[in-house]
Amino acid sequence: MKALILVGGFGTRLRPLTLGLPKPLVEFANKPMLLHQVEALVKAGVTHVILAVNYRAEVMEKELRSFEQTYNIKISISQETEPLGTAGPLALARDILNEGDSPFFVLNSDVICDFPFEEMVAFHKAHGKEGTILVTKVDEPSKYGVVVARPDGCIQKFVEKPQVFVSNKINAGIYLFNTAILKRIELRPTSIEKETFPAMAADQELFAMNLEGYWMDIGQPKDFLAGSALYLESMRAKNPSMLAKGDNFVGNVLVDPSAKIGTGCKIGPNVVIGPNVIIEDGVRLAKATILNGSRIKSHAWLTSSIIGWRSTIGQWVRMENISVLGEDVMVKDEIYINGGMILPHKEIGTSIPEPSIVM
Ligand code: GDD
Ligand code: MG
Repeated sequence: MKALILVGGFGTRLRPLTLGLPKPLVEFANKPMLLHQVEALVKAGVTHVILAVNYRAEVMEKELRSFEQTYNIKISISQETEPLGTAGPLALARDILNEGDSPFFVLNSDVICDFPFEEMVAFHKAHGKEGTILVTKVDEPSKYGVVVARPDGCIQKFVEKPQVFVSNKINAGIYLFNTAILKRIELRPTSIEKETFPAMAADQELFAMNLEGYWMDIGQPKDFLAGSALYLESMRAKNPSMLAKGDNFVGNVLVDPSAKIGTGCKIGPNVVIGPNVIIEDGVRLAKATILNGSRIKSHAWLTSSIIGWRSTIGQWVRMENISVLGEDVMVKDEIYINGGMILPHKEIGTSIPEPSIVM
């Protein structure tokens, strides 16, 4: 089977993390975002993954070739010369997707859940129509594509980002289509949510499958942190031995084996510590992700923060309220950062008392 992942643009909403690295390669729970999806796809029998991108993807080539070897699959890049939206990329990859005439997956690149790909294949076969989309329930449906479906799953109505309340069942950004869908899509910038899905719903060719368990669109820092918490909770249920144990830890914490943690720390809940990270003595971390090679000096206090690669946080620093550091940032001792977005390679010597961007 094949899968096309809509990788899209530069991941603007996840800046400054995406300034140096394409979004699919940013580590979520110590693994590139893309690999969470690829691993689950491979398990379900996918052997060819097509990445639909609209930027020059040379930076990714090396990593992709190594992923191909690790998972014994083929990864192609389908590169747009202008952004084709969420449907246009399917038309651009038409020839590959049509090969063999078997159903294929399409994924938004920024969604995380316990991907139920095998169940989707069974559901899709059972209803026999053109498309299956995975749906989940959220409290604030207006940010998403909203679905109204019959009890058997047949979608009656699909409304992208509705202004008025339609339903709290939303599009989770994970699809399985027959190649017949390709006849509906022209090679031009076009939205699968605004154009293709409403037409398929009108033809009764689109079915919704309910997603069990957690789901999150992790394309923004706040949701990235919330998604990490959900991911760790699911890990507690499925794979508890992966989580950190010991006096330093509270709640769900994931620590790469190469990280070093000092004494008298209190870490957790909902913390991810990446490879080669050094946490000195007496550090307090909650709801945070610390990426590869960073150092958190003694007695720093960090919550709701993402620390980019190879950054240094000084002693007694306090950071909170969705603060995100790019790569190689240096925060001096005793600094306070409240909702700071700090671009790569900066040195921070004065406090940031109000949410702001440091360029
Ligand atoms: N290749 C390519 N080209 N990909 C694109 C383009 C494009 O021009 N535009 C967007 N994408 C990719 C994005 O990178 C992302 O992976 C996916 O398409 C969806 O775009 P988002 O910008 O993340 O959309 P959204 O989050 O506002 O809404 C979508 O996702 C929701 C679930 O998180 C919609 O599919 C909603 O219906 C859905 O509920
Ligand atoms: Mg999104």
